[in-house]
Amino acid sequence: MNVEKGYVDEPIEEGIDLRKEILRLKKERNAVIMAHYYQREEIQQLADHIGDSLALAQLAAKTDAPVIVLCGVHFMGETAKILCPDKTVIVPDLSAGCSLADSCPADEFEQFVKAHPGYTVISYVNTSAAVKAVTDVVVTSSNAKEIVGSLPQDQKIIFGPDRNLGNYINSITGREMLLWDGACHVHEKFSAAKLADLKREHPGAKVLVHPECPKPVRIMADKVGSTQALLNFAVDDESQEFIVCTESGILFEMQRRCPEKTFIPAPPDDGKCACNECEYMKLITLEKLYNSLKFMAPEITVDADIAQRAVQPIQRMLDISRDLGIIK
Ligand code: 13P
Ligand code: SF4
Repeated sequence: MNVEKGYVDEPIEEGIDLRKEILRLKKERNAVIMAHYYQREEIQQLADHIGDSLALAQLAAKTDAPVIVLCGVHFMGETAKILCPDKTVIVPDLSAGCSLADSCPADEFEQFVKAHPGYTVISYVNTSAAVKAVTDVVVTSSNAKEIVGSLPQDQKIIFGPDRNLGNYINSITGREMLLWDGACHVHEKFSAAKLADLKREHPGAKVLVHPECPKPVRIMADKVGSTQALLNFAVDDESQEFIVCTESGILFEMQRRCPEKTFIPAPPDDGKCACNECEYMKLITLEKLYNSLKFMAPEITVDADIAQRAVQPIQRMLDISRDLGIIK
């Protein structure tokens, strides 16, 4: 079996019905398929569970299935493996990385932490396992505000790696967390000028913004929140039109849940495309998912020492989220 490129690169039998075969293999392997909201539509349609980063971590911690096929990016697979070391965790293409996680190399982050004794270290889930291993509490965009808010107001905090999410939390909590200077290349690309044009074209539309977007975009939002929070807002709000400033994969679920409403993807500033896609998320295809189930590869592995240290801040996040009523 050839996995040199990060995925099983083996020919697929001609004429097979990929969707049917994936479902058959899933049953045969006793696997559960989980997908992030940014995945391709056809992957989301096949998944047993779709969700944001927090939901996927929680689902991984709870599932009885011995095999988790995580259709998302590498750090999501790592988080699942750290929470379930005895399970087989497969990400159909291991090269599905994350520019935000890459903006925070573990050795540099560790030096930064060591240079600031007395600080509580909060890391966004979009980080490598090695960064989580030097973290006190992991957060996602679904719980960051509440978890930061649960710490004493005078507690000194390092927040990494997303400077936009960190700035947003500082602005709504009045804190002055020390921020790592990282960002997501997808969310950084949204343009306030193009968003203003779209708003003029659709004066009745509400603007939904992920907190990884820069401040000039965030301040034009009617709702800032995680993918799950934006989805909930779109479902509950009475407006019929929404401009969506996050990766465009979320539009599939928004449209599925609200077929009568209109969702308009906000464009990136490079002007080549009407919507903004994460090329890492889109690396997962039906072909790679099929081969991953057929060959039970490529598996996520995490160094045992790192996993032992990284599980604590992840578990802390789940425990605090449960205590605060954010998850059940
Ligand atoms: P969520 O936590 O909202 O799922 O976002 C994950 C992510 O990668 C955002 O770019
Ligand atoms: Fe990472 Fe950005 Fe892709 Fe999310 S959208 S997985 S933060 S690169």
